[in-house]
Amino acid sequence: MKKNDPKARRMAPLQTPTDLGAQASKDISAALNLVLADLFALYMKTKNFHWHVSGPHFRDYHLLLDEHADQIYATTDPVAERVRKLGGATLRSIGQISRLQRVKDNDADYVTPSDMLAELREDNQQLVSRMREAHGVCDEHGDVATASLIEVWIDEAERRIWFLYEAGRKTE
Ligand SMILES: [Fe+2]
Repeated sequence: MKKNDPKARRMAPLQTPTDLGAQASKDISAALNLVLADLFALYMKTKNFHWHVSGPHFRDYHLLLDEHADQIYATTDPVAERVRKLGGATLRSIGQISRLQRVKDNDADYVTPSDMLAELREDNQQLVSRMREAHGVCDEHGDVATASLIEVWIDEAERRIWFLYEAGRKTE
């Protein structure tokens, strides 16, 4: 590659050196990018419900969903940077997120508070199982660092599920 050729420079692979190998980088990056798209979609849905929730528990739910959204958003950067540390390319646009996300959008005009909590609980549960799948990919390639981060993100998601479950439980 010619050093001063801008086109060649643009095409140069963004490959950070890693001893895990090209296949590991490819497989783990693909798994993490899917999780990342889901995190962004779930962040947006959690904020959507934070903004639109209504009713007698407004304050509690509004604040709870804001905490959850903050936690989900805080996870996105370490996930993307993990991909880059492995020499992979991560997400570049909202359009790419929408093509990869498995979390379904909810654009309904009105959602009851209990349906909001139930839907987010379900989405977080699916996120946990997808993070477990990504953990399996890391295990196959011996990527202990990504695996250990995923373990923390799973614990955080399980805490969100716990709160969503308890807050939405009917008690008589
Ligand atoms: Fe807010």
